[in-house]
Amino acid sequence: MTISDVAAVAAPVSDVAALAAPVSDVAATRRLRGADQTPERASSPRHYAMTAPTFFAVEYAINPWMDTTTAVDTHVAMNQWETLRQTYKELGHTVELVEPVAGLPDMVYAANGGLLVNGKAVAARFAYPQRAGESVAYAEWMARHGFDPVETRHLNEGQGDLLVVGSIVLAGYGFRTERQAHAEIAALVGMPLVSLELVDPRFYHLDTALAVLDDTTIAYYPPAFSDEACAQLLELFPDAIEAASADAYVLGLNAVSDGLNVVFPSAATGFAEQLREAGFRPIGVDLSELLKGGGSIKCCTLEVHP
Ligand code: ARG
Repeated sequence: MTISDVAAVAAPVSDVAALAAPVSDVAATRRLRGADQTPERASSPRHYAMTAPTFFAVEYAINPWMDTTTAVDTHVAMNQWETLRQTYKELGHTVELVEPVAGLPDMVYAANGGLLVNGKAVAARFAYPQRAGESVAYAEWMARHGFDPVETRHLNEGQGDLLVVGSIVLAGYGFRTERQAHAEIAALVGMPLVSLELVDPRFYHLDTALAVLDDTTIAYYPPAFSDEACAQLLELFPDAIEAASADAYVLGLNAVSDGLNVVFPSAATGFAEQLREAGFRPIGVDLSELLKGGGSIKCCTLEVHP
């Protein structure tokens, strides 16, 4: 497979094949940079939305990280979340707040609220009924911010499974987002999309096993993906960082990058070293309380892409 086969990889997305041209630019940029030299990294200002963990709790278990018998300290969760918000602000990013809703304990995981890119807004359609109310709350927020959120017919859990890398979307399926939603989403946002199968229930969302570091660079944990997905990632991102199990199992890949600064779960110390070697600036934040719900940095961050 070559980069020009992205259209073929995204087979169900035949109507966006014509849009695949920018993908080859991504490949060209990567080739120019050369494989063995550490590229110059640069940050760009980002626009995020976050939801405070006011009502955070582990009241049900819909992923292997959640255990309803574990005590959750909302006060600790709030302090950790606040540190994350301050970190973004200190980096110069815009952080907007979404009003938390009582009775929606997972709403703190704002990434799942939808996909905002290219001036388009895709509302989430959650796999579990416990989270259904969140799509309404996030769609209302989007509408208030000038977007016109569109629903998909098939399940999609927003940026949990839909990650923008430069001019393409990497899309996970296997646990939450349905593969059939991928074609809908590619058509809605007008971008080529690569479908990647997730195979390990601990890594039930794409953003638990793959981090976007800049427009051409990712980090990922290969065992979380099917053989086919691994082959696709290897072709598309030959210089990707492959994370080790110890880092993946503290959700180290659930990170947010501005192109230079990578805000990552501080327990993932090996990943931090890999990031540094690749020319990034790792900034560790501890979200241990929110890990009890099966999420970390990226899960708590909905990026409003330009
Ligand atoms: N408890 C939530 C769930 O299982 C966690 C969501 C984490 N979010 C994410 N973007 N991975 O749905």
